[in-house]
Amino acid sequence: MVRVAVAGGTSSLGRLVVNAIVATKKHDVFVLSRKDSNIFAESNVKLFAVDYTVPATITAVLEENRIDTVISCLNLNTREASDAQLNLIEGVGKSSTVKRFAPSEFGLDNLEVAKVVFDYPVLEFKIAAIDKLKEFPSLKSIRFITGMFMDFFGPPPNPPQINVISVIIDPEHAKAGIPGNGSATILTTHTTDVARFVAAALSLPDWPEKVIIQGDRLTLNEVVAVAESVKGSKFDVTYSSVEDLKAGKITELPSNIPRYAFLPKPMVEGITQTFTIGMAIGLFDIKGPLLNDLIPEVKPISLEAFLKKSLQL
Ligand SMILES: NC(=O)c1ccc[n+]([C@@H]2O[C@H](COP(=O)([O-])OP(=O)(O)OC[C@H]3O[C@@H](n4cnc5c(N)ncnc54)[C@H](OP(=O)(O)O)[C@@H]3O)[C@@H](O)[C@H]2O)c1
Repeated sequence: MVRVAVAGGTSSLGRLVVNAIVATKKHDVFVLSRKDSNIFAESNVKLFAVDYTVPATITAVLEENRIDTVISCLNLNTREASDAQLNLIEGVGKSSTVKRFAPSEFGLDNLEVAKVVFDYPVLEFKIAAIDKLKEFPSLKSIRFITGMFMDFFGPPPNPPQINVISVIIDPEHAKAGIPGNGSATILTTHTTDVARFVAAALSLPDWPEKVIIQGDRLTLNEVVAVAESVKGSKFDVTYSSVEDLKAGKITELPSNIPRYAFLPKPMVEGITQTFTIGMAIGLFDIKGPLLNDLIPEVKPISLEAFLKKSLQL
């Protein structure tokens, strides 16, 4: 049994991680949030409001509750959120009770990304956390690397688990916008499976420095072929060179059009540009030790099974 706190456990991936840990019925679960709320009132999860600008207050909460493991699921889209995570690490590192920490990674292998020229806005924040952890060598840390969340490849459930846009395929409209010639391989994992693997990893005796959580691994052309086979129809596929993507020539996927009301078109195109260029230059073909091998009892959903489920076919 571990006493685990999930920072940012109130929404999206963090909420799924909390739910998955609760479902194991093995651990005491705490959530760190910027604000007090009663969203976990019906469960045994205890939520603590913390001030991420004052690391000592975080240390106090962790020590008072004898928390030994902290999983960060903070959103890292802004400098403010990144600073919050750096202060979280400071608070964790100075606590006498916390032995293990996972920074909010859940995507690319950022140490590999840092070796290439790639305009990835949050890279600076991801690397800052990895560097900050070096100040606390006795704290065991793990990077959970998941590739692209599979949730982006099909229509979301109602209510959605995380905010998505359509990227590379739009199965509802039988359309695809593929970077390069489609031969690049990508790693993709559904958020529900990411959460189940993270929850199961709490019971591992040792944490490697990085682990890959693998839902499915396919070439982009295979992604289209799987989607076409599930839909039973040919897709209208546009291939774009990296030069075209860099120049802002982004294939519009129709499912994104109603989303512009919440996420303006330039932002949707910016996210698509980052993801698709990253795929074309091989950054989603992530290699390394698989957490799947350490936790064979967690069986992740394949892209094919996910598409059948999300399209209700
Ligand atoms: N691989 C992929 O395809 C993919 C896609 C999306 C996200 N991700 C990654 O998944 C992780 C979680 O992202 P998410 O989209 O799930 O995050 P999110 O829902 O946007 O935010 C998670 C939590 O972060 C906390 N938070 C937000 N802004 C903050 C701030 N300025 N200071 C302190 N806390 C703040 C909030 O908790 P409180 O309000 O309770 O404080 C929020 O509930 C990130 O590392 C992200 O890069 C990966």
